[in-house]
Amino acid sequence: MDKEEFLRNYLVDRRGTDCSKWDGLEQKFGDKDLLAMWVADMEFKTCDAIVKALKERADHGVFGYSLVPEEYYDVFSRWMERRYGFPVDKEWVRFSTGCVAGISWMIHAFTRSGDACMILTPVYYPFHNVVTNNNRKLVKVDLIYDDGYFTMDYEVIEKAVVDNQVKMFLMCSPHNPAGRVWKEEELDRVLAICKKHHVLVVSDEIHQDIVFEGKRFVPATTVSGGKYQDIVITLNSASKTFNLATLIHSHIIITDEKLREVYDRFASGLNRTEISIMGMVATMAGYRHGEKWLESVLEVIHDNYVYLKETLEGKLPGARVCALEGTYLPMIDLRACVGSVGTQEFVQKRCRLAVDYGEWFGEKYQGFIRMNLATDPAYVKEAVERILRNSFLDIPQGL
Ligand SMILES: Cc1ncc(COP(=O)(O)O)c(C=O)c1O
Repeated sequence: MDKEEFLRNYLVDRRGTDCSKWDGLEQKFGDKDLLAMWVADMEFKTCDAIVKALKERADHGVFGYSLVPEEYYDVFSRWMERRYGFPVDKEWVRFSTGCVAGISWMIHAFTRSGDACMILTPVYYPFHNVVTNNNRKLVKVDLIYDDGYFTMDYEVIEKAVVDNQVKMFLMCSPHNPAGRVWKEEELDRVLAICKKHHVLVVSDEIHQDIVFEGKRFVPATTVSGGKYQDIVITLNSASKTFNLATLIHSHIIITDEKLREVYDRFASGLNRTEISIMGMVATMAGYRHGEKWLESVLEVIHDNYVYLKETLEGKLPGARVCALEGTYLPMIDLRACVGSVGTQEFVQKRCRLAVDYGEWFGEKYQGFIRMNLATDPAYVKEAVERILRNSFLDIPQGL
């Protein structure tokens, strides 16, 4: 399906559907008339196969306690094997009601109150909250930012691990909002530090399927031939891939038997082992039949990104659209462009945009915004035009 056909068939106006992105504008920003470029979900209907499977299930009319059929594990494993060389054994898989809930459960299962958990900032803000709200010590290590590109600072990471006796590392891979798809060498280095210092790694791989430009997503569990399996727990789901967030269905993959035992002991206390039937049905249909739809989505996001980067950087000296190897959520460095009014005043009041602000992800990132590109190209164009229209007033002298 070409891009125009995809947009004709799948783009929807979500206003008035109780969606956070549009209908939550007033609550979040105090202004319901902003152009919504925030919240990490898509403006696209999911693929036909998922809608069909959900309708069939709804027509059955019973939503009682359910089992996970064998075919679910087969379909999931085949998706992971075909795309990432990581066949997933049924025995390794547990379920959670979303990846953030999964992180919270891992914190409870594997750490104690007061233990240190490390994150690499800027990172998706629930990574911060899920640590502090569960009475763990939050250890933040900044990624290195260099001209629109983020990398890990291994020396600082190791020092933070040692100084704080870090017990758990919450890794984001691909990284939201740094836009990086970590290379195997990078993962190898950070995982080696964790292994050396007995740090358990919870790898949130929810964005695994949103990857561009020939970049290769490497599941942490497979790094260096599986060398780190005894310290890695993987969280993923089809929710970013197929736009299914509120079906609250995600995977916890624990390849190591001892870690599984610890988790299962904890989970027995949760008394919550059933899965979301609609989440399961949708995920299975997506993994079976959704790949073509996903290809079209990736094309739309990528084209939106190229337009954003070329236009904004071309016309607005000093603006930097960060590299987007994965996710649909690039950071934009506007520090040189917002002038004396400040970022929020500039973005919300002048440009009338609703975005995620850099400081939500890490204190140092004031002056950055994150823009959601899984959306109508016309919205991206409008957002860029608003930034260009308003910013020249405040372009610092000499730019
Ligand atoms: C890295 C990351 N993890 C988790 C989530 C949310 O996952 P869930 O809705 O399954 O809790 C997001 C959503 O943006 C995300 O970017």
